[in-house]
Amino acid sequence: MRKPMMAGNWKMNMTVAEALTLTRQINQLVGDSTAVEMLLCPPSVCLHPLKALTSDMPFSLGAQNCHWQDSGAFTGEISPPMLRGLAGYVIFGHSERRQLFGETDETVNKKTHAALAHQLTPIVCVGESLEQNERGETSSTITSQVRAALDGLNGEQVQSLVIAYEPIWAIGTGRAATAQTAGEICGLVRNILREVHGAAVAGTTRVLYGGSTKPDNIGSIMQQPDIDGALIGGASLEAHSYADMVKITAELYGA
Ligand code: PGA
Repeated sequence: MRKPMMAGNWKMNMTVAEALTLTRQINQLVGDSTAVEMLLCPPSVCLHPLKALTSDMPFSLGAQNCHWQDSGAFTGEISPPMLRGLAGYVIFGHSERRQLFGETDETVNKKTHAALAHQLTPIVCVGESLEQNERGETSSTITSQVRAALDGLNGEQVQSLVIAYEPIWAIGTGRAATAQTAGEICGLVRNILREVHGAAVAGTTRVLYGGSTKPDNIGSIMQQPDIDGALIGGASLEAHSYADMVKITAELYGA
């Protein structure tokens, strides 16, 4: 049984004060529902104060990135040991990091190994560009990104992590993939896991969809059997829309 996840990727938004306010607002709206894992991924400076605030709230916390080394001369970076105790999850390979900050399949793989070694759960993002999509290269792009990101991991490690399919053309554009397409590509991701690690691993690993999800489309997306949740950008910055997405998902899962 894969627990559905609504993961809010706040990106470079929210001061500490704003993050505390938003989290309190969300908490009031969602009640203490446990049917859906509610993951908040604020800027890393907000993790410590949010950890303290959410000690009796039903939220998980995640970072948006970290380095693969434990420490050293890497100005501006944070490391997996620094996140331990503050975050349970960490996002890797988001297309914004790939496009704007030089993230590659190789660094995503190194970071994924490092996070797992420090008991952090990676959320590995993959997704094709508009050009790749139009050239009919979606499947080959996703296949090579997934294989490269998970290279060298064993089945148990793959089972514990989360993969997010985020077509680049759908991120922040208001143009989500159709539920059917999103479901098919998440199914493709699961097939790759099955080929490499077998059915038990493929059946346990959570696969999310991300890209212009909102209350209006989350129901049809979450009805896809291979989709276990959403990585939500814009709509996670507004308490009501995030809480509505959690509630719609909880209802679909019969809670
Ligand atoms: P969006 O962002 O929901 O604003 O499209 C999704 C993401 O980048 O994770």
